[in-house]
Amino acid sequence: MYPLRRNRRLRANDSIRHLVRETILTPSDFLVPLFLVEGKGIKEEIASMPDYYRLSLDNLEKEVKELWKMGLCAVLLFVKVPDNLKDNKGSEALNANGLMQLAIKTVKNACPDMLVMTDVALDPYSSYGHDGIVEGGKILNDKTAELLAEMSVSHANAGADFVAPSDMMDGRIKIIREALEDEGLIDTGIMSYSAKYASAFYGPFRDALDSAPADLKGVPKTKKTYQMDPANRLEAIRETRMDIEEGADIVMVKPGLCYLDIVRDIKNVVDVPVAVYQVSGEYAMLKAAAEKGWLDHDAVMMEQLISIKRAGANIIASYFAKDAVKLMG
Ligand code: PBG
Repeated sequence: MYPLRRNRRLRANDSIRHLVRETILTPSDFLVPLFLVEGKGIKEEIASMPDYYRLSLDNLEKEVKELWKMGLCAVLLFVKVPDNLKDNKGSEALNANGLMQLAIKTVKNACPDMLVMTDVALDPYSSYGHDGIVEGGKILNDKTAELLAEMSVSHANAGADFVAPSDMMDGRIKIIREALEDEGLIDTGIMSYSAKYASAFYGPFRDALDSAPADLKGVPKTKKTYQMDPANRLEAIRETRMDIEEGADIVMVKPGLCYLDIVRDIKNVVDVPVAVYQVSGEYAMLKAAAEKGWLDHDAVMMEQLISIKRAGANIIASYFAKDAVKLMG
């Protein structure tokens, strides 16, 4: 008798499919990235990210209350800094009353249990659009790491639960951890962008924050000297292991879809939670295709998100978080 095993028995209808489903998305899987601007009453759509907005702090307050009601309980904050506050050292990043520090307080006031994570890197504050200090055509590693540590302490003092260094300087997790400890900020966690690739998928994000590398002499046009080469796999494991040894509580792979093999490789060898960042270009691609009627937005979105989780993500940073949760019903 052939075949005895018919795998289709487990696919016959919704009930059996639900019963044997291996991966299930829930609202608590998500980390919601939010873009903030100075001013009042501002909710401006990002041109290359349809339905995604830059918010002023009054609208941030409304947004986090809505997220909380939906079961979304973690946010990742990014700020768009006015040009006149940018310099090579990202001095504004350390302003205790800067936009980021005020945003952290705004979220905590509006919604005390909302987990607040903050992006730590110089790029939104840098007149050159790089994640670190630029000197002699190079991005300085060690001096930048010291600044990132100060920035982390500033975010933690403002009330951030986790700092999320996205800069890819070597050794910065150790320097940040030590700086937090020195200040008694022992409960502040670190989510490290551990395997962050020099990806062309970050374009819309750089539009959102006006943070692309500046087109100036002596300023590298790409971030390839510090972000990873998309061709490399073992290096991702090495980077991630180092960050864990240095004190990272959560590690991250970024971008998402093109790098799910890396997510699985890392998931197989580490014992800390693994986050995946489904980045702006991934969001923009689907929005554009859906706008043209070429892809079914909701179906493709859910397929992408479930694939990220199946690959091994414990946490998914995604601009689709709200859309996805609405569909979960
Ligand atoms: C900055 C940072 C970037 C992203 C998150 N943090 C851009 C970059 O490295 O140039 C990208 C996120 C996205 O594209 O959604 N350090």
